Amino acid sequence: MDPRKVEELVSAIEGKDLSTAAHTWRVVLYTRAMAELAGVDDERMRMLTHGAALHDVGKLDIPRRILAKPGRLTPEEFEVIKQHPVTGLARMVRLNVEDPLILDLIRYHHERWDGLGYPYGYAAADIPLAAQYFSVIDTFDALTSLRPYRQQVGERAAAEAIIEIKSGAGARYAPDAVEMFTGLFETGRLDWILHYFNDDCRVPVYGDVEQVSRAYARRAGP
Ligand SMILES: [Fe+2]
Repeated sequence: MDPRKVEELVSAIEGKDLSTAAHTWRVVLYTRAMAELAGVDDERMRMLTHGAALHDVGKLDIPRRILAKPGRLTPEEFEVIKQHPVTGLARMVRLNVEDPLILDLIRYHHERWDGLGYPYGYAAADIPLAAQYFSVIDTFDALTSLRPYRQQVGERAAAEAIIEIKSGAGARYAPDAVEMFTGLFETGRLDWILHYFNDDCRVPVYGDVEQVSRAYARRAGP
């Protein structure tokens, strides 16, 4: 997929306030750190990077009144939200994107190991591997990012998020994905991402992702 097109869509997602640039950077860098550990080749690394950045692209097609609703969603509204993996896939099809790992992350990032996820309700090994791993990353980021009701991010939120993710291994999350992510977290190699890319940070442009990753790797150490 053309990186300029990815960048354009990432800006559209931020412009519509669907997520912050810092969130995009965190999930992209966590994904790359996991992929590096798994020893993926350069082509897969590129696809996973773009897929992580675009995982919620389908939210561009969900009405803002539902996405930005302050209170609790009605069951009907939640059904609309649950369509964003499908609308995201449709958007990629319209753009003739065929990279399998980009499509997997967009389409399956809300599936759960126990089959209780959405929109397809796939379980266990029926969920493509990249999406099994990405769902742990996406949850960790949701649990550690600033929300109006959450003052604490940093160490404590991360420690609590790790406990919650571990307790969901084999239910909500793929056991191997939990083991890999929590193991990586415990080495301290993700700390820089968690701390630097808070929602007030100055974010680089998406096109610089390779350079930022290399800089990250130097800071994080071997
Ligand atoms: Fe999503």
